[in-house]
Amino acid sequence: MSNPSLLILPGDGIGPEVMAEVRKIIDWFGAKRGVTFDVSEDLVGGCAYDKHGTPLHDDTMAKAQEVDAVLLGAVGGPKYDNLDFSVKPERGLLRLRKEMDLYANLRPAQCFDALADFSSLKKDVVAGLDIMIVRELTSGVYFGEPRGIFKEGNERVGINTQRYTESEIERVARSAFELARRRGNKVCSMEKANVMESGVLWREVVQKIHDTEYPDVELSHMYADAGAMQLTRWPKQFDVIVTDNLFGDLLSDLAAMLTGSLGMLPSASLGAPMANGRPKALYEPVHGSAPDIAGQGKANPIACILSFAMALRYSFDMGDEATRVEKAVEKVLADGVRTADLMGPEGGVPVSTSEMGDKILAALDASL
Ligand code: IPM
Ligand code: MG
Repeated sequence: MSNPSLLILPGDGIGPEVMAEVRKIIDWFGAKRGVTFDVSEDLVGGCAYDKHGTPLHDDTMAKAQEVDAVLLGAVGGPKYDNLDFSVKPERGLLRLRKEMDLYANLRPAQCFDALADFSSLKKDVVAGLDIMIVRELTSGVYFGEPRGIFKEGNERVGINTQRYTESEIERVARSAFELARRRGNKVCSMEKANVMESGVLWREVVQKIHDTEYPDVELSHMYADAGAMQLTRWPKQFDVIVTDNLFGDLLSDLAAMLTGSLGMLPSASLGAPMANGRPKALYEPVHGSAPDIAGQGKANPIACILSFAMALRYSFDMGDEATRVEKAVEKVLADGVRTADLMGPEGGVPVSTSEMGDKILAALDASL
């Protein structure tokens, strides 16, 4: 059998720095676990625009379609703020999501014990928190037509369209129910059925998939605004949350911050199974390109490393090895090792991006 293949797209800002630490972990798996990945690397975002005049070259897109999994760092930066919408760095990422048809975006929000003090909420509200947001990623208002800025009489009008087909709702609902079965067996679906027809349909279809295919999973519905409120009030009431593209964007940032640091959270974007049975997949940290600290060795590589752990679990059926990486991260945090974003009043061992990677490697070695 050929080696599993990975396409690495470090992107912009801190992307390359945090990805360098992931490369160390990948090499560790080759050296110490006999799991060798065929790794190739390419450009996405602003750096691709600088070289090719487009945030995602067609050749890169074609490569992404062929590999077993794509690992992405981050895209964007102030240098590109004034570019035309069609070539902004973000368009590279959106094209990958759309053309690979990565409809289920898994965004775990997990609070590490060692960091519970970091949350802006009280410790007992967040300690032990472990929720999973499943965000629909290839449809809704991000992609609906008509869209654009049009002339209407003597003024302009900006238009975006929220649009969901039944099958788009069905497939992401199934992803959420499947995940729930392997976790706390609870799904809360969020929309705005009180004001949006797309929300009415969303609620109906999620309920139908539940009743016909997953009656064993506990299902509840919430309006997304109330969901945001409940997430800050008592987040531990949730297990899996399934929601649309835009609400998922907002709610996942909110949920991420409950855990104290955006620098900690990974994500997986999954599509339909390929011929080899693996889902089309892209893994990326939830944090952005953080241009303000790029190139200074300050970035926290943990979100990107945990994204690779998600790849081990969801693309390569190596759940035990994913847990090994997650435990190594937990161990390093429990030892007080801290990148700048994690340095609180209680202090700790300050480390650079690459020192954090080395500490995690040492913890992996110790796990053998
Ligand atoms: C995210 C980001 C993206 C989104 C941007 C960078 C296009 O905010 O992944 O949450 O809005 O989906
Ligand atoms: Mg976002």
